[in-house]
Amino acid sequence: MKKVIVNTPDKSYDVLIGKGLVKNAGEIIKSITGISKLAVVTDDKVNALHAEKLLDILKKDGFETEKFVFPNGEQSKNISTYSDILNFLAKNHFSRTDMIVALGGGVTGDMAGFAAATYQRGIKLVQMPTTLLACVDSSVGGKTAIDLEYGKNLAGAFYQPCCVICDTELLRTLDGDVYKDGCAEVIKYAAIFDEKLFSELENCGGNISDGAVYRCVTLKKEVVAADEKDTGERQLLNFGHTFGHAVEKCSNYTLSHGKAVAAGMAVMARACIKKGLCGQKDAERLISLIRKFGLPTETEYSEKELFDAVMSDKKRRGGSITLVVFKETGRCGLFETDMNTAREFLAAGLE
Ligand SMILES: NC(=O)c1ccc[n+]([C@@H]2O[C@H](COP(=O)([O-])OP(=O)(O)OC[C@H]3O[C@@H](n4cnc5c(N)ncnc54)[C@H](O)[C@@H]3O)[C@@H](O)[C@H]2O)c1
Ligand SMILES: [Zn+2]
Repeated sequence: MKKVIVNTPDKSYDVLIGKGLVKNAGEIIKSITGISKLAVVTDDKVNALHAEKLLDILKKDGFETEKFVFPNGEQSKNISTYSDILNFLAKNHFSRTDMIVALGGGVTGDMAGFAAATYQRGIKLVQMPTTLLACVDSSVGGKTAIDLEYGKNLAGAFYQPCCVICDTELLRTLDGDVYKDGCAEVIKYAAIFDEKLFSELENCGGNISDGAVYRCVTLKKEVVAADEKDTGERQLLNFGHTFGHAVEKCSNYTLSHGKAVAAGMAVMARACIKKGLCGQKDAERLISLIRKFGLPTETEYSEKELFDAVMSDKKRRGGSITLVVFKETGRCGLFETDMNTAREFLAAGLE
């Protein structure tokens, strides 16, 4: 088992990474939180595959447990499911000394996390990520949210868990496509921060090792510690996301986040060659790694469609936007600029 300690001004907590950690979940939760009553929040798919085993273990370890199950998928990450979770907790007499365990992908983690942040002004939370994306990204850092009618993640809170238990054995049941979405985020970390990880990915045959998950979590922790509230260095993690979100939006969210981000990274890499910010070799190396993982490096949408989507991005501030530019393998930078220049980058990346 590997351990990463995340330090934020609010709280310090452990991210435990390894195979078979579900078996030890009871002991871990007991020793870290000391609580005895918890609600496992999960989606129907993960419920069928993994929840019973976890609940059996928790019950054997003496926990009083409840389970809340919702239909899997982003369409459930809304105010109605969120409100159902809060009412479920109230109906089952959860108090401020009880806890939520979020067992699932980013949808579960984000929504159960927001419920934990707000129920009775905050109850304890343990994240148990079951997708690669959740392991390397959404379960760490404390961003929780639900979607509103007008856009994704529009209501939420910064709320850190008491610990993250990342049992990588659970990833074995993932659909190939969902796994690939997580791979896009792993490639992103390597491209922004870590040439060594990048080389490992070039030779891993499409399988992300526990060591690579550990490395990504360590990188995220370093960034989060420096910038919990996402105003400075944490923005580097948005590499591929400004244009990626635009691609996602243009597809009306039929294209998954990971695939959209993959295309967004490739567009930015091409733009950075044209703008003289990076060498052609490094950008091509990134594009060919994305391709190697079977992820898209192009998009079918026009410059105009994509730019309209960028204009509605919540990361835009008035007339300016912070682009994450690719400089070389393992190094990106922040570039605050006006919307015209952002459009030029987009146009250059699509050529
Ligand atoms: N909080 C953050 O910092 C952050 C960061 C990135 C993304 N996100 C959010 O994360 C969400 C996407 O996360 P996701 O890709 O994990 O989506 P998800 O939670 O919807 O999971 C994807 C699919 O995989 C299934 N699944 C989950 N675990 C499984 C397993 N072990 N075996 C088989 N199937 C399994 C789910 O049922 C679902 O159908 C988005 O809502 C996004 O906004 C949040
Ligand atoms: Zn992402």
